[in-house]
Amino acid sequence: MQPFEGISNGTAPGMVDGYGRRIEYLRISVTDKCNLRCVYCMPEEGLPWLRRAEILDYEEIAEIVRVMAGMGLKRLRLTGGEPLVRKDLPRLVAMLASIPGIEDIALSTNAVLLAPMARGLKDAGITRVNISLDTLREDRADAIARRPGTLPRVLRGLDAAEKVGFEPIKINVVLMRGENDDEVADFAELSRNRPLHVRFIEVMPTESNLELSASSFLSCDEALAAIARVDALEPVPGPPGNGPATYFSFPGARGTIGVITPMSHNFCSRCNRMRLTADGQLRPCLFGTIETPLRDPLRRGEDLRPLVEETLRIKPEKHLLVQGSSAGSGGLIALSQTGG
Ligand code: 5AD
Ligand code: SF4
Repeated sequence: MQPFEGISNGTAPGMVDGYGRRIEYLRISVTDKCNLRCVYCMPEEGLPWLRRAEILDYEEIAEIVRVMAGMGLKRLRLTGGEPLVRKDLPRLVAMLASIPGIEDIALSTNAVLLAPMARGLKDAGITRVNISLDTLREDRADAIARRPGTLPRVLRGLDAAEKVGFEPIKINVVLMRGENDDEVADFAELSRNRPLHVRFIEVMPTESNLELSASSFLSCDEALAAIARVDALEPVPGPPGNGPATYFSFPGARGTIGVITPMSHNFCSRCNRMRLTADGQLRPCLFGTIETPLRDPLRRGEDLRPLVEETLRIKPEKHLLVQGSSAGSGGLIALSQTGG
């Protein structure tokens, strides 16, 4: 298959990879920094942060998106690290929202800083948010995020997200045996009376979490079994989105319950995305070693299109993660480096 297909229905040409997957979605990491230190994500001491000059400025991010939108890119998600720690994020959102072809801009956040920013982000063009929340108990939240006072701030952020009308709102729960496995049903209950989409995620191994990702691994099947003991679960199409989740719901519930199973049920055949790191590497896969530096060619005024085309062409068929090993992660220290 050619990487660039003319589509007969007359819409923009699409990006199609070597396995026939249509790629219309880009996750943009706007910073590698974070105000939390979640145990499965980052080492307590943090990481060797990128220097300011290494990080794409907003004009550079917008230029890359403009090039890719001309090739068929339609949807964006801003991630980090924690995207809300980057100064003046609504300015970037507004710039991206004005690019022809971009139909949707989402945000993935830990929500610690969201409450006062929610309105401005909505007005700038964010339509939906994913919020990371791994426990509903304050003491556990402090331990998992390794920062005191986390949970009340996140819950305020979640309330603000509902109030300003982000739709859908998804909650990401990373499953950890012995840490939050007894809260799976409580999380599922959140979807009953509120329009919340709770998604359980299997922990993925990186260099910095090898022990935890092996010893605390809990599969989504086990989580679903625990929820099904509370009430019937029926398969549903799920909220609009671009993701790899499979959805269920309690009868008559306003929200849904989703599972994301990178370890137990591979979903790479449905992959629809690429990633842009804060320092301008275009990554065709979250894991593995393939990345194409776009920043320096952009700063030299070169045409980025052939670089994007080549990256698309070599997008791997699937990730090769192995539990308890960093082998398949391509030496990735933490997901915060590639935007999760
Ligand atoms: N395994 C699974 N999920 C992870 N996240 C961060 N690191 C990992 C990991 N090693 C999650 C975050 C966030 C999402 C973007 O990725 O909790 O919800
Ligand atoms: Fe920060 Fe998200 Fe990583 Fe937690 S999971 S340390 S909130 S980037």
